[in-house]
Amino acid sequence: MALLEVDDLHLHYAAGDRVVRAVDGVSFVIAGKGEAVGVVGESGSGKSSLANAVMRLLPKGVARFDGSIRLNGRDLTTLSDEAYRREIRWRRIAMVFQGALNVLNPVIRVGDQIAEPLLLDDRVEKRAARARVEGLLERVGLSAAFYGRYPHELSGGQKQRVVIATALVHDPDLLILDEPTSALDVSVQAQIMNLLKDLKEDPGISMLFITHDIGLASDLCDTIAVAYAGEHVEYGPADRVLLEPRHPYTQRLLASLPRLHGAERPRAMPGEPPDATALPLGCRFHPRCPYRFDACDRHPPALPIAADGHARCWLNDREVAGERFETHLPALAVRGG
Ligand SMILES: Nc1ncnc2c1ncn2[C@@H]1O[C@H](COP(=O)(O)OP(=O)(O)O)[C@@H](O)[C@H]1O
Ligand code: SF4
Ligand SMILES: [Mg+2]
Repeated sequence: MALLEVDDLHLHYAAGDRVVRAVDGVSFVIAGKGEAVGVVGESGSGKSSLANAVMRLLPKGVARFDGSIRLNGRDLTTLSDEAYRREIRWRRIAMVFQGALNVLNPVIRVGDQIAEPLLLDDRVEKRAARARVEGLLERVGLSAAFYGRYPHELSGGQKQRVVIATALVHDPDLLILDEPTSALDVSVQAQIMNLLKDLKEDPGISMLFITHDIGLASDLCDTIAVAYAGEHVEYGPADRVLLEPRHPYTQRLLASLPRLHGAERPRAMPGEPPDATALPLGCRFHPRCPYRFDACDRHPPALPIAADGHARCWLNDREVAGERFETHLPALAVRGG
């Protein structure tokens, strides 16, 4: 039984008389302990909305919220909001929000901020809560001495470690991380990535890791989902997606990465993401796709499911793509080609 199974999830928002399809039929699986799924995509592709949907933290103006979310086989969609709050959110599934560095309360010692849910919700005795928090501070690479510090005394990386400790306070099975390193310098970013790798190993926390940087996802994740305009256009084991991308958008993301060796320069992603309230017909990527052909702007690509994942692109359908199946699809596998 998988730890988390998300199937055909939708989260749409009402925007005036239009609808934003922020999460539009998304499915993925986090198999078990210590497994990380990465969701990669440009700004506006629906990554944070997906995280909020799994946490059931919904804003006002939701036009559609449905699909199935199962945690250890248990259907969470039928749980009441009260049961979700009491049993699931923060306890089984915790989250580090996008931009979370700035939400630490400046006038409360960081240790007390981490301890708060233990004292208030769990009524843990004060000394036991302090011991637990000191252990957590050490687990995230700080020392127990940080308990008494205030946020302004901490560097960006240290603050992010505190935020991660806060999310771990109830010992969750799954940690959702929404762009956890995007506000940090590259060297600090690498340290936080190392911490996440450690936490994956021990205590074996499973992760949904959200980023706009496919390079970061490749470093941490076992499985990668590529988000575009509310859909996951490619999904599969990280090695396969990175080495043999089957969607032109994935290939463009890979081509935009800097290289350590070789003369090739990274290539910027061409074009702009679509207007979320007026998505292109057919394949949503077609206005930016160098391989588009007649089927692409008429019909949304079917979703062939294979053991090693899927791609929402007509090139993967031999009947529709014809000779393009033989010529373009293998070419996609050449990184940056
Ligand atoms: N509360 C909201 N109401 C209406 N539209 C929203 C709301 N939140 C996000 N959106 C829109 O939904 C789309 C996806 O946003 P988001 O999930 O934040 O993407 P990402 O995290 O990938 O940048 C965007 O077009 C965004 O403008
Ligand atoms: S379906 Fe067509 S437009 Fe869309 S990614 Fe594939 S080739 Fe490009
Ligand atoms: Mg976001």
